[in-house]
Formats: sequence, C-alpha cells, structure tokens
Amino acid sequence: MVEEPEAPSGRGVVRASAAPVSLADVEASDDWRVRTGLSEFDRVLGGGLVPGSLVLLGGEPGIGKSTLLLQATDSLARNGARVVYVCGEESPSQVKLRSQRLGASGEGILLLAEVDMEAIETVARQVRPDVLVVDSIQTAIDSELSGAAGSVGQVRSCTSRLMRLAKGDGITVLLVGHVTKDGSIAGPRVLEHMVDTVLYFEGDTDHLFRVVRAVKNRFGSVSEIGLFEMTGSGLAGVASPSEALLARRERPVAGSVVTAAMEGMRPVLVEIQALVTPSYVETPRRLATGVDRSRLLQVVAVLERHAGVSFGQHDVYVSAVGGVRITEPAADMGLALALASARKDVIPGPGTVAFGEIGLTGEVRKVPHSDQRISEAARMGMSVAVVPPGDTNATSIEVMPVGDVASALRTLASGG
Ligand code: TYD
Ligand code: MG
Repeated sequence: MVEEPEAPSGRGVVRASAAPVSLADVEASDDWRVRTGLSEFDRVLGGGLVPGSLVLLGGEPGIGKSTLLLQATDSLARNGARVVYVCGEESPSQVKLRSQRLGASGEGILLLAEVDMEAIETVARQVRPDVLVVDSIQTAIDSELSGAAGSVGQVRSCTSRLMRLAKGDGITVLLVGHVTKDGSIAGPRVLEHMVDTVLYFEGDTDHLFRVVRAVKNRFGSVSEIGLFEMTGSGLAGVASPSEALLARRERPVAGSVVTAAMEGMRPVLVEIQALVTPSYVETPRRLATGVDRSRLLQVVAVLERHAGVSFGQHDVYVSAVGGVRITEPAADMGLALALASARKDVIPGPGTVAFGEIGLTGEVRKVPHSDQRISEAARMGMSVAVVPPGDTNATSIEVMPVGDVASALRTLASGG
C-alpha cells in the first residue's frame, strides 16, 4: 500500500502561460549544457548538466555519491554557479570535513541541514540557486504524509515536488538515492520513471574502480560510462580506462584473456578471467561477475558442441576485472578463450587481445567498431589480436582473423 497526499487545488496544474509553440521555432543547442568540470561525470551526463533537469544518482551506501556531488558542485561553484546543498544525512560540519579532504573551498555552496520538503522549497525559491543537491531523497519528508522518511509514498511525493522545482523554477536538481543490495528500501527504482536522468554509481567498495552508468537519460546517450578511482582526496576521473584496468595484470596465466569492449563510444581493454574446477555438486555452478550470464552459458555450450571442450562435471566462474560490466556479444571470443584456457590449462600468448561474437553454430561474427578496438589494443602495446574475419588494415599489431571457435582455440595453443 502506498500513501498518496491529497493534491491541493492549484498544485500541479499547468500554468496559464503554457501555450503551444511550433517545434520548428524552438531554439536549442548543446551549448546550454553546463559542464561540471569533472570530465568523466560530464561524459555520462551526455556532455554536462542540462539546466532545469532532475538527475538521480543512485548507489549503495559508501560508494561515493556525496563525494562525487560535492566535487561536482564545488567545481561548478568555482565557475560562478550558486549551489544549495541539502545535507539531510550529515551535519554541516561533517560535510565541511569532507570538503576539506577534497580541497574544496566551499565558496558559493550554501549548506542547508533540513529534511522537510516545505522548508527546502522555500529556501530554493528564495535563494534561486543554479543547482540544488538533495542528499538524500530517503531523508526528505513531506509533512502532508504520515509515512516514515524513505517509504515509497514519501520518496515519490518528495521527488515530484523536486521535479516541480526543477521544471517550474529552472533549478537543476541533483538527487541522491540509496539502493541496497536486496533493494528492500524504497529508492531509485520507484523514481526512475519520474526523473530526467538516472545514474548509478557502481563497483564494489573494495574494487579499485567506481563506475557511473546512465540507465536513463532524456538528454543524452545511455551507453557512456564514467570511470573513477577513489583516492585519499576524493574521486579522480580515469582518463585512460584500458591503462587503469590492465595496470595490475601480471604475466599471462591460464584462464586470463584480454578483450576489447566498447563502453559507449570508447574502446576499453578488459581482462576476462575464468576458473574451471571439478564440481562436487549435482548441478555444476555457472557464475558470472561483470559478464552477462546468458552469454556465458551460450559460450560454454558452443565450446562443448563445436570445439570439443567439455565442462559437464566442472564448476565455471568468470569475471571481468575491475568492476566493469560487459554485456556486448563482442566479448564472446575473449570469454571462450579464457574458458578454454582455464579448462585445458593453456597459457595464452603474451599480449593477446580477443574479441568477436560467437554464434550458436560456432561461427565467429563481425562486431561494430572493429578498427577502434584494434587500435586501442595496439595503443596499449598488445601484440596479437584474435578477431572476426574481415578487412582490417592494422599494421602495428598482428591481426589473426578466425572464422570459427575451433580455429580461435588453435591460436591459443600456438600462441602459448
Ligand atoms: P561517500 O561519498 O560518503 O559515500 P555515499 O554518499 O555514497 O554513501 O563516501 C564514500 C567512501 O569513500 C567513504 O567510505 C569514505 C571514502 N572516501 C575516500 O576514500 N576518500 C575521500 O577523499 C573521501 C571524501 C571519501
Ligand atoms: Mg552520502
């Protein structure tokens, strides 16, 4: 059951000034986006913040949501933006401590320790900030509702009031929403349809990288990600993801293959690891972390049927290193080689990168952005690229086109 406030007359109705305009006459350009100055954050936003939009930043507690927004608003404030930061979860002195750690001056940021929506709206309409941060939606309270803060009714009602603030008063609203692993607390999920942009901050707290991913963006693409690293003085954007993701790689070992994935418009080299062990349970395990599980099952089946690699009595674990998530079929080839390498205990040749989609009949299919993937591999100093058949004119790296999964596995044996 969700408690809904009774709508007072006049609230939420379209203002009388609203008149239809010809779409042809509407002026818009990308220049009006406001860059936050954190290039990785701007990238996921689609180039910057759109004034008057409502952006939801979701993520597990402790992942770095408050840190990211404080850094972004500090950078905006340095460029003259007026910011109101509603800290419902922390006291102003706690926020101050964090800002000192980040080296933020705090100039231009007004802190408001308040949870009541009415008061937040009043301040926002008085101060008229360019950006309003509400940290977090789970602490905001609509006093017209009796439900506890964080309940579905409260969260929805407060968000729709913030939406009116964004659209009606042209204030950009950045909203923090916690999600828990089991999703038990009313959070971002129930709000996704209400807001303009939904970003999720992901990556285990013990992983090296934090990924901001757009799952909905009315003003940009949802295929871009922003990659961050948590340092002693806040979040640092990772400009060259491949470099960072491969940094901790040691010498080649069985079960580890590098693939070239596309994250938005940017090629990223990611290490795929596989572990294949004898199974002691009736139904062998198939576990995927950062890799699409259905693709894993399919690749395992294709390897069994078309390459004579059997996994029947074995548990299979695969993961994409560094907290990234690969869903595109282009990772199939890397996955297949990692699995075969782990199963047969064959070490892949040093500097091998592999990508390509694997079909159900074992054929290797072309994937988009082949050239970009290959040049990223070359740039990263890889020496061999196992790729789908087709025209590639790379010179700085040895390209090995393979037509089917069995020939792909042969490159493994010859390379090691
Ligand atoms: P926080 O931004 O408060 O997370 P959230 O708002 O998503 O709950 O902080 C995330 C974690 O990052 C916290 O455990 C402390 C750590 N941290 C650093 O390692 N370096 C820093 O400079 C800061 C500010 C935080
Ligand atoms: Mg926080």
